[in-house]
Amino acid sequence: MADEPLVLGIETSCDETGVGIVRGTTLLANEIASSVDEHARFGGVVPEVASRAHLEAMVPTMRRALEKAGISLSDVDALAVTAGPGLAGALLVGVAAAKAYALALDKPLYGVNHLSAHVAVDVLEHGALPQPCVALLVSGGHSSLLLVPDVTNDVKPLGSTVDDAAGEAFDKVARVLGLPFPGGPHIDRVAREGDAAFATFPRGKADDGTLDFSFSGLKTAVARWIEARERAGEPVPVADVAASFQEAVADVLTAKAITACREHGVDNLLIGGGVAANSRLRVLAQERCDKAGITLRVPRPGLCTDNGAMVAALGAQLVDAGRRPSALDLPADSSLPITEVLV
Ligand code: KG4
Ligand code: ZN
Repeated sequence: MADEPLVLGIETSCDETGVGIVRGTTLLANEIASSVDEHARFGGVVPEVASRAHLEAMVPTMRRALEKAGISLSDVDALAVTAGPGLAGALLVGVAAAKAYALALDKPLYGVNHLSAHVAVDVLEHGALPQPCVALLVSGGHSSLLLVPDVTNDVKPLGSTVDDAAGEAFDKVARVLGLPFPGGPHIDRVAREGDAAFATFPRGKADDGTLDFSFSGLKTAVARWIEARERAGEPVPVADVAASFQEAVADVLTAKAITACREHGVDNLLIGGGVAANSRLRVLAQERCDKAGITLRVPRPGLCTDNGAMVAALGAQLVDAGRRPSALDLPADSSLPITEVLV
């Protein structure tokens, strides 16, 4: 509808330069330039390489998004940008660009939390968020359970990983299995041919009564298992190990997410972040939610991994809620706490 806010969102917190454009809850464009190939040979994102790639990609990605949406910059009602958390140098590129556009266009700018944006993006697919909902956020940098009474200003942490993030565990296990970086999608792919019951790997903190996660023990257990196999001169069944590892992650994530819903009397669960693209996690979450009478919402995979549309979607909800825009000297904050939706 024409009276809904037209918002442009910029995302540069890690290795994806994203520019998204939404009108209210309607997605108009979601253009992404990724520097992932430049990081692959290092086995992880190199911050300086990511920052330079953002600089080079910012203007072309912006142009592509405007063209896709069929609008010109002066049409937008507001801009939104990821202010944190993320890589400091990478965030700075997006924040500086967003400030320049906002100043030149004399439009309001909203500096937003990357994690809240991973939750807010689901409005583009499934409409207004249920209030409250529990959100399971699983990405390369974060694994958290959140109670979300209102994604525009009230996000409460319930638990998080005490060591590696879920995506980090996928990436590290993929490396020991000889799969390319980032490993999540490759494990997902090869696991389809594997037996998830082949090996039982540890479910860290599964029964400790908290809503926290731990994945470093799991990662080490898989690495030790592979080493033992290689020492014995036996081949490593990559698909079976990938499937068994993936099962351990999906099991513990979904079990704790359901517990979080029960403990807080919430019957809506939302899963977001790059790992939410995982096919086994999606299937198991659906099965367990159906059994528990919980409604599950998971955005389509392309909206789960980092993108600009999620930032624009949160921006549009902030505009709708009448929140005050950020000051034009807003900082990029690499460790922005999850409780701060808007900077
Ligand atoms: O949200 P995201 O794009 O970036 C961060 O904010 O970190 O998440 C990236 C992470 C990577 O660790 C990647 O391996 C993982 O998400 N990932 C997956 C899948 N697709 C991406 N993990 C498991 N299965 C997938 N299909
Ligand atoms: Zn992310």
